[in-house]
Amino acid sequence: MRQLSEKIAAVAPSATMAISDKAKKMQREGIDVISLSIGEPDFDTPRHIKDACIDALNRGETHYAPSNGIPELLSGISEKITKENHFTSGPEQVIVTCGAKDAIYEGMEAVLNPGDETIILTPAWVSYEPCVQIAGGKVVKHAVNSKTFQLDDLLLERINPKTKMIVVNSPSNPSGAVFNQKSMKLVADICQDHDIFAMSDEIYEKLVYAKEHISLAAIGDMAQRTITVNGFSKSYAMTGWRLGYAVAPIDIIRQMSKVQQHSVSQATTFAMWGAVAALKGDQRCVEEMRTEFDRRRKYVISELNLMGYETAPAEGAFYAFVKVSGDDMEIATRWLEQGQVAVTPGSAFYAPGWIRLSYATSMEKLKEAMQRIRSLGSR
Ligand SMILES: Cc1ncc(COP(=O)(O)O)c(C=O)c1O
Repeated sequence: MRQLSEKIAAVAPSATMAISDKAKKMQREGIDVISLSIGEPDFDTPRHIKDACIDALNRGETHYAPSNGIPELLSGISEKITKENHFTSGPEQVIVTCGAKDAIYEGMEAVLNPGDETIILTPAWVSYEPCVQIAGGKVVKHAVNSKTFQLDDLLLERINPKTKMIVVNSPSNPSGAVFNQKSMKLVADICQDHDIFAMSDEIYEKLVYAKEHISLAAIGDMAQRTITVNGFSKSYAMTGWRLGYAVAPIDIIRQMSKVQQHSVSQATTFAMWGAVAALKGDQRCVEEMRTEFDRRRKYVISELNLMGYETAPAEGAFYAFVKVSGDDMEIATRWLEQGQVAVTPGSAFYAPGWIRLSYATSMEKLKEAMQRIRSLGSR
């Protein structure tokens, strides 16, 4: 048999799989495993969003739509960006994609040439590196400060003529940290001084607690070199709808559009009507979910700190990032096997020695999980 694609063979399978497969197997065997490894809100999609989608289905919005997205959604996103993210971009600078993940993939394909270097700030979410690799680029990892989870001038040492893009994710999955103005300005200055593109993944922008979310594209001339990625999965509890978007300079959008046209064609037509309702409807649902996540965040962080664990600044998203002494894979396995609590080892995010706990689960389950972790004793 002929050899399969070397490019795809080189992509590592997700390091989170081993533990999550084991957790699922235990659950199938009837063991009461509490999963704190989930990366999605546990809330249902708000009623008015579902209704808008059902109405769209009933009036026959079941056919192909413009590849970049329905005009109502493109203009809704453009208005939202001006109002909330403080930079301007017309509807022609927006593309609606099948989840934010698709926007990340298309953005990498649109910008990178073989061998182009892309800086990923670690700890980092699992899909940036494979997307860079699939696009033919080369990943350069740079660790944020392990105490503050912010950036400093050391980032400059990674820059060379091959550096094409820097990926920023604030609020961060997995750390929950939110970049301050200084970190964002540093990225902006570097990009501007060295003619580098940026990808700013702002999928958790609505889940920020006691800190301000800053959009990279709002700094200086960054809107001219930034692909801002966002979506509906986390803010509106719409993970299964597969709706994300990118806002970028028109040349980049045209390139992304080609990738989209020749692969998925478009995001699902009637789902996009739900997203219009999400953006234009009452935003109280977002605040209600944020308030509940905040309550759980405070509880989980204070419990972990009381047990003696050091935690990363939990300022956004719905993750607690916990420092452990010892091998994080072994500790996560022990928590699962002996405590029946499923968590994600930091190694999956290039951060050995840490463990990610998702608090996107009920308070009742969180209380039980904290009890189980406490009873495991030693750290
Ligand atoms: C940082 C980050 N970016 C992007 C995504 C992808 O989101 P979507 O469901 O919209 O594809 C996720 C999902 O876990 C994420 O954590």
